[in-house]
Amino acid sequence: MRHFDCEKPGSIGATIAAYIAHADTTLHDALQRLDQTGGGPLMVVDDTGRLVRMVTDGDIRRLLLDGRDQSAILDALPPIAPVTARMTTTLAELSAMFETAQVTAIPRLDDAGVPRLLERRDNAGAVLLSTPHLGGLERDFVQQAFDTNWIAPLGPQVEGFETELAQYSENGHVAALSSGTAALHLGLILLGVKDGDRVYCPSFTFAASANPIRYERAIPVFIDSEPQTWNMSPKALERALARDKACGALPAAIIIANLYGQSADMDALMALADAYGVPVLEDAAESLGATFKGRKSGSFGTLAAYSFNGNKIITTSGGGALCGDDGDMIERARFLATQAREAAAHYEHQTIGFNYRMSNVLAGIGRGQLKVLDDRVRRRRAIFEIYCEALNDIEGIDWMPEPNGYFSTRWLTAAVFNDACGLDRTRILNGLQSVGVEARPVWKPMHRQPVFEAYEFEPHDDGRIADQSVSDNLFNGGLCLPSGSNMDDATVYKVCEQIRYWAKG
Ligand SMILES: Cc1ncc(COP(=O)(O)O)c(C=O)c1O
Repeated sequence: MRHFDCEKPGSIGATIAAYIAHADTTLHDALQRLDQTGGGPLMVVDDTGRLVRMVTDGDIRRLLLDGRDQSAILDALPPIAPVTARMTTTLAELSAMFETAQVTAIPRLDDAGVPRLLERRDNAGAVLLSTPHLGGLERDFVQQAFDTNWIAPLGPQVEGFETELAQYSENGHVAALSSGTAALHLGLILLGVKDGDRVYCPSFTFAASANPIRYERAIPVFIDSEPQTWNMSPKALERALARDKACGALPAAIIIANLYGQSADMDALMALADAYGVPVLEDAAESLGATFKGRKSGSFGTLAAYSFNGNKIITTSGGGALCGDDGDMIERARFLATQAREAAAHYEHQTIGFNYRMSNVLAGIGRGQLKVLDDRVRRRRAIFEIYCEALNDIEGIDWMPEPNGYFSTRWLTAAVFNDACGLDRTRILNGLQSVGVEARPVWKPMHRQPVFEAYEFEPHDDGRIADQSVSDNLFNGGLCLPSGSNMDDATVYKVCEQIRYWAKG
């Protein structure tokens, strides 16, 4: 693993100091410094240590050719705002910045504006949260799409992908779509959700679970998590349903999300939904490959959505699918996803449609990925086991539980770092980031998101003070660790060493 900052095991602090030059440094001295740093750019700072600009040997050469003397100071250079990163910039965003700006180093500013230098070659060795992991066959399927000129949002690869995904996921029918969000949106429409309806949704999830509720101008009601699964709390759901039934305001649908590769308690949740006659839309974006009591996650609700975004357990680079047993509903989804074009030679429309279909090229990637899905599940579970075993002596790490009868894919290894045991989640997060390891806080609850905070929230424990809900507690200490199936054991152990170091406090 590469290190690209100081204050950590294997510190390169001395090298960092060599990159900083005060604005009154002479051109001669700056050239000498650049010689020592192997030509890497210097960070020019003012009296307060704030970054003014970057300077390369090319900048100095131009000044000298312009007739400046070597005794002139760096202040003579025109100020040019440098491309900078913040402490919150993710490693993936950094990679994109290096690519766009075509620079070899980017200063990262702390809250006081003091820079530290991140070099492109170091970022290249970063350990990312979850990256695509191709098998051997994706290219062949994509090649077929090229060979047959099916470069369209329909074609044999789309049909093949739908059939194979239906088989794998134990669903009668599948519509391949452009994203998991599109699948959730169409799912709500097909369940009849409309303007002003209430829709239950977990608070502890990604915003894409909740956003489609607002696309239809329906009203989200956020339901807390339970500690056993981190997913929707049956206790909170039951309370909300009973209360809403009493005032004639039952929801039009319930979205149940299955986070980090693990199903929610579908026995309890489905029994409640059935008892109150409310249809369920499963958000299985993160749980393809997981099972609950032997049955595939994403086969319980009336409809379910999967995501094939680049960070998911398998990917089509971007894509999703809507699944279910009702063939008419899935056929309607395909219709709505292709601009609701009626069967007429001319373009006839009676309904508002969407451009949500998956392309035939991307479906080819998906077919190849499906072939290796079970291998990817095995590897992610093995990575989780390494984290648990290597860190089991650190008191206060509560791994996401996997109750009896559940089979999680461990899409992301997630744990709560307990501050009562002296573990500081933010310190660990920032520490990992500073040595090129991408971790992320678990999802910030929707009822805490500025865009959703005005909506109702039903906590797991009635009468709990509002900021101590289960989802709040998960968020306060929760972290997702690098979990990509293409990580080797040695890398996972190195991440563990770093966690151990930053956990020490
Ligand atoms: C829980 C959850 N729901 C929905 C989505 C949306 O999927 P997509 O990114 O394919 O639109 C994602 C992933 O991004 C997710 O993690």
